[in-house]
Amino acid sequence: MTMRTVYVNGEYLPENEARVSIFDRGFLMADGVYEVTNVLNGKLIDFEGHNVRLDRSLTELGMKRPAAYDDLLEIHRELVTRNAINEGLIYLQVTRGNSGDRDFHYPPEETEPTLVLFTQDKPGMIDSPVAKRGARIISVPDMRWGRRDIKTVQLLYPSMAKMMAQAAGVDDAWMIEEDHITEGTSNNAYIVKDGRIITRALSHDILHGITRAAVLRFAREAQMEVEERSFTVAEAMDADEAFYTSASAFVTAVVEIDGAQLGGGTPGPVATRLREIYIEESLKHAI
Ligand code: PDD
Repeated sequence: MTMRTVYVNGEYLPENEARVSIFDRGFLMADGVYEVTNVLNGKLIDFEGHNVRLDRSLTELGMKRPAAYDDLLEIHRELVTRNAINEGLIYLQVTRGNSGDRDFHYPPEETEPTLVLFTQDKPGMIDSPVAKRGARIISVPDMRWGRRDIKTVQLLYPSMAKMMAQAAGVDDAWMIEEDHITEGTSNNAYIVKDGRIITRALSHDILHGITRAAVLRFAREAQMEVEERSFTVAEAMDADEAFYTSASAFVTAVVEIDGAQLGGGTPGPVATRLREIYIEESLKHAI
């Protein structure tokens, strides 16, 4: 891979020269939040949505905002330009900063947050092979903490769940709590039954996906019925279709859950249509 230009606390640097302290709260305590914004045709998808959610995550954790909206937008755009990203992702992370030592208590108010951004070049995201054939998933217990609505960098359990999926020879995992699916390891989960799109309602149990908000809006505009409620694995296995959404996967059909095939094993019409609408509308409004 070619050497990227990344952003760290006010500076654009070659990736191998970027440094964060060993005392950074993000490193020692996973005391940080992040956002992943999609880039299509060199433009940012739903930047505003990601900015609003970043604000919410920071507020919920009592963390300082590291840069104003306009500055963050400029950094995103600068990284897209400097790294010649046409299709890809921008990762942004804010931590509570360098506390100068290890201490469970938060560092003093005046401690500056750490702000890091980097790009990931991902040509072919729109024509992803997994989206074409549909994803195969397994269900695993949801063992994460109780504030999944805050987009923190505590991603150990989702990583473990991805490894369980890999070991099972499938693409991903959906997580279960009290018999009901919460969400995917890095995406929101949906089923389609008798034409209705069913997805868990927003609460502290799941991340409030930016793609979820857009997709549900487009679905309602297209007169599709949406029901926001939790559903079980049994219901998912018996559904006509299933799919998941995220900034990096857009809308991706699910064709197998715990070995049970859905809708003949190929992406269904609702997921396929929603993926098309989402990509089309996102491109129209990209900035
Ligand atoms: N993941 N749920 C979880 C647990 C997630 O980690 C994500 C995003 C989503 C979807 O949110 P959005 O539509 O705003 O991307 C739902 C990102 C892409 C990641 O961690 O890479």
